[in-house]
Amino acid sequence: MARGRANVGDIREVNTEPKNTMAGTIRPTSQQKQRRQQDTAVQPAQDLALERGAIEHYADPLYYDFTYRRRRDDVEFYRRVARQYGGPILEIGGGSGRVAIPLVADGHQVTLLDASMPMLERARARALQSLDSEARKRLELVHGDMRDFALGRRKFPLVIAPFNVLLHLYEPDDFACCFRAVRRHLAPDGRFVFDVRVPEPRELARNPERIYKARPFRHPTLGYRVNYSESFHYDPIKQVQHITMRFTPAEGAPRSARPIQVLLSQRQIFPNELRALLALGGLRLAKRYGDFSGRPLAPGDSVEIVVAQRA
Ligand SMILES: C[S@@+](CC[C@H](N)C(=O)[O-])C[C@H]1O[C@@H](n2cnc3c(N)ncnc32)[C@H](O)[C@@H]1O
Repeated sequence: MARGRANVGDIREVNTEPKNTMAGTIRPTSQQKQRRQQDTAVQPAQDLALERGAIEHYADPLYYDFTYRRRRDDVEFYRRVARQYGGPILEIGGGSGRVAIPLVADGHQVTLLDASMPMLERARARALQSLDSEARKRLELVHGDMRDFALGRRKFPLVIAPFNVLLHLYEPDDFACCFRAVRRHLAPDGRFVFDVRVPEPRELARNPERIYKARPFRHPTLGYRVNYSESFHYDPIKQVQHITMRFTPAEGAPRSARPIQVLLSQRQIFPNELRALLALGGLRLAKRYGDFSGRPLAPGDSVEIVVAQRA
């Protein structure tokens, strides 16, 4: 990894001595050093599909940012939350900085932890592009697993996990470990705010053989037009939805272009189950909303936004 210019610092690894941490260096734990070759801090899952499904979609951050470029309501929501609870803010699964960078621009100090090195590198590039050198000092990038991280003795008044990050917790133990780690980093009266998609029974019942096609588009990383389709396979025992995304070269693509398949696996968390899962980590649900304007959760809502605190 190329060393960043001053201030958008290194991306550091958790559990190492915190030094020179501001938006610059990325440092590894011993396990993470091994996993570094795979560019991810995600612990290997027993199930290969889950391992792939937690990583592959985040290997191409340019495509990620392109796909979600119009998703703004949640960013505005987290900006309001940050104004309300204040910083410093810890964002787990902060990815390419889609939410963190606006928070830093608003004046908050943000620690962004993510398992994907490509996403962290992208966050650093975006910070260099859009923040001035003073603002960049407020962004700390950390390579780590949300199920096992330790950031020293620091306590955060606000921990956030925007946009389905927690759907990458597949086993009950994963939730317990993650929520305990969040609790350890929460200030006594701190808040943990996150949003997850509400499972939709009709979506889970989709025929895995059926292919859902979308319009062709110019892929930002490949640089040529692709046909795009998705298929869905729900595992009702693990409560995991596996989404297979297929990119096949469209007319005008180079002759050497090949189809690409990317797997995204998302645990389906039903709203009342979530309360019990929070309790595993010593947290309790304080409020929940059904959209980013702050309306209470109601039947038919596709997103659940949770404000939790220490139990
Ligand atoms: C849907 S993205 C959300 C990114 C960002 N929060 C946003 O709103 O754009 C999920 C993120 O979670 C990260 N992730 C998945 N499993 C993780 C884990 N075990 N520990 C830390 N991050 C993880 C992925 O690398 C990815 O950046």
